[in-house]
Amino acid sequence: MKINTAEFVVSNSEVSKCPQERLPEYAFIGRSNVGKSSLINMLTNHKSLAKTSGRPGKTQLINHFKINNNWFLVDLPGYGYARVSKKTKEVFQQFITDYFEKREQLVCAFVLIDIRLEAQAIDLEFITYLGEIEVPFCIIFTKADKISKTKTDSHVAAYRKKLLANNWEEMPPYFVTSSTEGTGKEKLLSYIDEINTE
Ligand code: GTP
Ligand code: MG
Repeated sequence: MKINTAEFVVSNSEVSKCPQERLPEYAFIGRSNVGKSSLINMLTNHKSLAKTSGRPGKTQLINHFKINNNWFLVDLPGYGYARVSKKTKEVFQQFITDYFEKREQLVCAFVLIDIRLEAQAIDLEFITYLGEIEVPFCIIFTKADKISKTKTDSHVAAYRKKLLANNWEEMPPYFVTSSTEGTGKEKLLSYIDEINTE
């Protein structure tokens, strides 16, 4: 799929104020600084459509970007920054859980994971939460430019093992990306295209 147009529509902290149009949408979620906003820029061929920063906590609101005038990419605030020790309900801000629980237009959540790190409890917790509320999700491993291909493969294999140990029957669909190098762009856009037309 080719992205011809990408425009920022609205930012807000209430799911009831998200765009009312019944267009399919795809949301990016994950720990602060994992690269959610950078990936949106990479996919849309923009330098700063979504605001990015080297410091965690840049994205604070639910941001809707309209793509090709017929679907949305949604950039969300990160979790796990300065709130790590609290229980799930407190760790994930209420408006984020509201978004996942109430947004009917959401087709698929993409959970971003830094490819360099071992599986983090907070990500596994969030994935379990998505399972509980029955939101379909994929995993996106980010920052693949930071490690070798061999390490990438072994880290993905370790992640699969961890999910299976956490009672998942199989690894969900996953993608390996680098926003600096454009890695994974075509595969990810083709996947979105595929589920968009189902
Ligand atoms: P919050 O909005 O704070 O939750 O962060 P975010 O997940 O949106 O991360 P953001 O896109 O702002 O990127 C965080 C930092 O990681 C920035 O310094 C980016 O330049 C860097 N970064 C993001 N993706 C990549 C990547 O694929 N490769 C490399 N090398 N750096 C990346
Ligand atoms: Mg961000």
